[in-house]
Amino acid sequence: MFSKIRQNISARDAFELVQADLKEVEREISVESVASVEAITTINQYLQAGGGKRLRPALLLLCTRLFGQPNACARRLAAVVEMIHTATLVHDDVIDLASKRRGRPSSNVIWGNHMAVLAGDWLYMQAFQVALRERNYHLLDVLISLTQMMVEGELLQLERLHKIDISEADYMELVDRKTASLFSACARLGAIAAGAEEANENQLADFAWNLGMAFQLVDDILDFTSTEKILGKPSGNDLREGKVTLPLIYALEGATPAEKQMVETILTDGSYENVPFMQIVKMLEHYKSIQRAYERARAFTEKAHSLIATFPDSPAQRALRDIVDLVTDREA
Ligand code: IPE
Ligand code: IPE
Ligand code: MG
Ligand code: MG
Repeated sequence: MFSKIRQNISARDAFELVQADLKEVEREISVESVASVEAITTINQYLQAGGGKRLRPALLLLCTRLFGQPNACARRLAAVVEMIHTATLVHDDVIDLASKRRGRPSSNVIWGNHMAVLAGDWLYMQAFQVALRERNYHLLDVLISLTQMMVEGELLQLERLHKIDISEADYMELVDRKTASLFSACARLGAIAAGAEEANENQLADFAWNLGMAFQLVDDILDFTSTEKILGKPSGNDLREGKVTLPLIYALEGATPAEKQMVETILTDGSYENVPFMQIVKMLEHYKSIQRAYERARAFTEKAHSLIATFPDSPAQRALRDIVDLVTDREA
């Protein structure tokens, strides 16, 4: 489907345009990681050193670049979105009883749930503190609504945990709240920092929302198809945690009562002790549901492509197009 050249795009190529700005963003995050209580600073530094793709700040900066050079406001907001993302992951790992993140023990494992929750709270507040320096109510409004939307998403997911009868619409709502809303806010903030017109801001927000939807769908597919070594977190995690995601939702549509029982067993056990993970993977293959989930993800990336194509050709526009392709082609 994609040409050879497009297949060879690496994240490095797509991020190259904002590499210098991203360095500044790292510096900003590290300056803003210092608390008056040492334990919080230590956790923050551990989180920053863990790496991560820095997809959200890159997205924000590239959106600013569609209209001009990223300014101090754009770089500050890029640090803010990465800090919010990190805080979300810290709390998410507590909620999910996760043991690994970015290839290393997650903060809840090293410092325990109590400390991890407080460190996440501190990081959220620090992100708002940094954003407040812009003295712009519209920015704060976007960030606060976004954070509430994400927290509500985590709560809804919690309510739906261990349930087999999750519909595609239920699932899409969670993906929208958990992931697409943050992507969308990144693009919006990038446009605001550039002083872009509202119509452009909305168009970019819509573009990034579709990108975010595809990103989470692919993340959920990779949970079935990839390995811990590549992902930096164990595969088969979602189902073990009680989450029924899109590939499984599709397979369950045609599943036999015995197959449904297999899934129920894992959801009840919270482990693959009685039903091996491979048996689930085989069932997904049988119903071609990985393929179907990829097709669904591709519909979001196609929509993202059509929205970004409305902006004039430029290095930033090309990098954003490349990021869309990277999301569906990624392995981790
Ligand atoms: C993890 O996001 C959470 C999801 C939305 C799936 P990333 O995969 O972007 O995490 P890092 O920042 O690169 O570790
Ligand atoms: C990702 O949620 C965290 C948020 C976007 C809130 P998940 O629990 O689905 O993702 P991983 O697998 O822990 O990264
Ligand atoms: Mg999780
Ligand atoms: Mg979670």
